[in-house]
Amino acid sequence: MAQEYRIDPWGTAVRIEYEKLFKYFGISEFAPLLPRIREVFGEPLHLMRRGVIFGHRDYERILEAYKSRERIALVTGFMPSGKFHFGHKMVAEQIIYYQKLGFEVFVVIADAEAYAVRKLDRKKVIEYGLYEYVANLIALGLEKNKHTHIYFQTNYEKPYYRLIQMFSRRVTMAEMEAIYGNMEPGKVIAALTQAADILHPQLEYFGGFKHVLVPVGADQDPHMRLTRDIADRFKSELGFERPSSTYHRFQVGLDGNKMSSSRPDHTIFLTDPPEQAVRKLKRALTGGRATIEEQRRLGGVPEACTVYEFYVYHLIFSDKELLDIYRRCRGGELLCGECKSYATELLAKFLEEHQKKLEKARDRVLDYAEPPEF
Ligand code: TRP
Ligand code: SF4
Repeated sequence: MAQEYRIDPWGTAVRIEYEKLFKYFGISEFAPLLPRIREVFGEPLHLMRRGVIFGHRDYERILEAYKSRERIALVTGFMPSGKFHFGHKMVAEQIIYYQKLGFEVFVVIADAEAYAVRKLDRKKVIEYGLYEYVANLIALGLEKNKHTHIYFQTNYEKPYYRLIQMFSRRVTMAEMEAIYGNMEPGKVIAALTQAADILHPQLEYFGGFKHVLVPVGADQDPHMRLTRDIADRFKSELGFERPSSTYHRFQVGLDGNKMSSSRPDHTIFLTDPPEQAVRKLKRALTGGRATIEEQRRLGGVPEACTVYEFYVYHLIFSDKELLDIYRRCRGGELLCGECKSYATELLAKFLEEHQKKLEKARDRVLDYAEPPEF
């Protein structure tokens, strides 16, 4: 039963059992959509091709809408609870992919959530929001245009807050507890706020979008379930439709456990000086064998290798080159030392270039987002 398996979007679970999402929660597999994506959008993102984005709800609707040239809104968000790392970059890449396709983009800086649930200092949260999240989005290529909106949850427009208040009427505590487990006021408000984040583009005031796509990490699915229920309940009153969503896997930290701002030795940040990032990656857990002799004989295990995961997610964009590394690792031709040097070279090069852009981006954050005054 679904109730026996709960995902806590505020929790610290190391691994989500992805298969259970299909079985218990009715998420569909993403891979079968790829041919259709090629037809409608063109080349899929590497994260789509490689199964990093593995699940969805109602994505077909988005493809249909795009094909019929209807307007589509993308909504996603970041909790500004620390520095921007490679896990966040994955979300940024999806935002930028859909922006290029012409989607209206709404990016939420979830400062209310970070304050209430993570219990962080307001000043810190605002600073991270601007100088880590907004700045990195700009440096990664998010364009500023009239179809792109970045907002702080505590500093947005009135009808958005009206939604949060209205939603409170049609959700029960029992329902919330069935989805999230133990609740407290901060979490209740965070969940309703996230529902407003996702649904507000459908209001005339914000553009009256009929189709909304939410690309998120798999841990956010409880919010999607709640939000879809809320959409149903406000169908007659506000004309809401259910949003669509996609789900990506989490990249693990360099020791094979959770990647998180609170584990800086095992997480690479986009602001890490390249030498430091290289040092971290050099120490990373690989799928290599105990001795060179064994590795030559048995081959490595890329599936269990955090360096390989870095290639898949961030460092290699050619599928052919990736497959070549995979095969040479498996076949025992490639040894971890050589493989790691190559990975660190690519990583250092990326960071050097990125950090140049980041320096300039920092001067432009206020053109993109208006921070709350306290
Ligand atoms: N809860 C999300 C997180 O922890 C952040 C978030 C807030 C969000 N509002 C959103 C994500 C709306 C997607 C859509 O990262
Ligand atoms: Fe990982 Fe490369 Fe070693 Fe294979 S050779 S286990 S991909 S580091």
